Amino acid sequence: MMQILAGGASAGLAGCSAQEQNGAAPLPLPEAPPPASQRHLDPALRKTVVNPIAPLKSVFRNNFKIGAAAKSNQLGTDAGNLLWTHFDSVTPEYELKASIVSPTEGEFNFEGADRLIDEALARGVEVRGHSLLWHEETPQYFFDGSRAQIRQRLETYIGTVVNHFKDRIMVWDVVNEVINDDWNPDTAPYRNSRWFNAVGLEYIDWAFFAARSADANAKLFLNEYATEYPDKLARTMLVVQDLIDFGVPIDGVGHQFHLNLDVDPVNIRRAIQAVDALYAGLDVHVTELDISLYNDPGTCWERGRNCDADYGPVMPDNIDARQAALYEAIFDIFRSESSVTSVTSWGLYDGDSWLNSAPAQRYNHPLLFDRKMKPKTATRRMAEAAY
Ligand code: GLA
Repeated sequence: MMQILAGGASAGLAGCSAQEQNGAAPLPLPEAPPPASQRHLDPALRKTVVNPIAPLKSVFRNNFKIGAAAKSNQLGTDAGNLLWTHFDSVTPEYELKASIVSPTEGEFNFEGADRLIDEALARGVEVRGHSLLWHEETPQYFFDGSRAQIRQRLETYIGTVVNHFKDRIMVWDVVNEVINDDWNPDTAPYRNSRWFNAVGLEYIDWAFFAARSADANAKLFLNEYATEYPDKLARTMLVVQDLIDFGVPIDGVGHQFHLNLDVDPVNIRRAIQAVDALYAGLDVHVTELDISLYNDPGTCWERGRNCDADYGPVMPDNIDARQAALYEAIFDIFRSESSVTSVTSWGLYDGDSWLNSAPAQRYNHPLLFDRKMKPKTATRRMAEAAY
């Protein structure tokens, strides 16, 4: 109905000037304009859900790229529309992981990633490549054979993937989660992982050099979680400093920032500034942002025991208020730190988040848009404050 009114009004105006030229009376306009809220909120007037707030990419346009993790099967859906409306960066959530790209040695599958990336680029949306090396979602064959064979295989894999996306993916998470969670005397500060156990710490250097030789222009990142904890941050900075000292081509550090409601924003700023304090000119990206409602003990993550009780499908008001205040505080930090050039939400809307099934099957509400893809409290406030 709105569209008919709008069309009628513009036809009336166009007719108006023609008729005035002929000296005829202008066509009457409708008595009152349609209420603006109706146009934005009535789903019957829209094919898909459109959020009545300013696009986040324009809210943050002077600060950083704002991104989301997404999947090719969301293209053409309401989730896809949400992505293109609000975000100017996208990270394939799964489709660049080794288990999907090359489940069998020597065979490569880029189908889903290509579709998502090509549509993103056609829409002027930048792509973060995630990730070239991880200890999870990596087929066992990567670890077979001698040290030289493992190195050769890794370099061939990275060279093939980076080359396939050359000039399309300009930012790569080269290594993901290579730092240990505690001080393990045998491996510290490196993660005690399948990679470390197979070849020692140098696989990190091999990965960066292979990415650089395949693409001289892409920005190369080390991506890490839990850097909001000072001891993990310290170990991460040791490794980054070491890479710089050894001339390894690293351009930036990604802080995943899978947070919960108890995080102290001071530690977020500290993590960002720790990278700046290396004086190496590195970019800082926030790569996997979410704020879980739960702060489960290790037994929940390790054995599914003692997990926090489910809040259910509707977020309680007091929790919503806490999460909103925290989101606003940390986005204020991101805006005030000039090394932060990209901030990515790990998923598009609450129903789409990995945290509904990890570490337990449970409702979580960790993202910037709710289960109906409507902006959450903080999202709305940040968008309103920008104008
Ligand atoms: C880690 C990885 C991501 C993703 C999340 C959980 O943070 O870096 O790619 O798998 O876990 O979904």
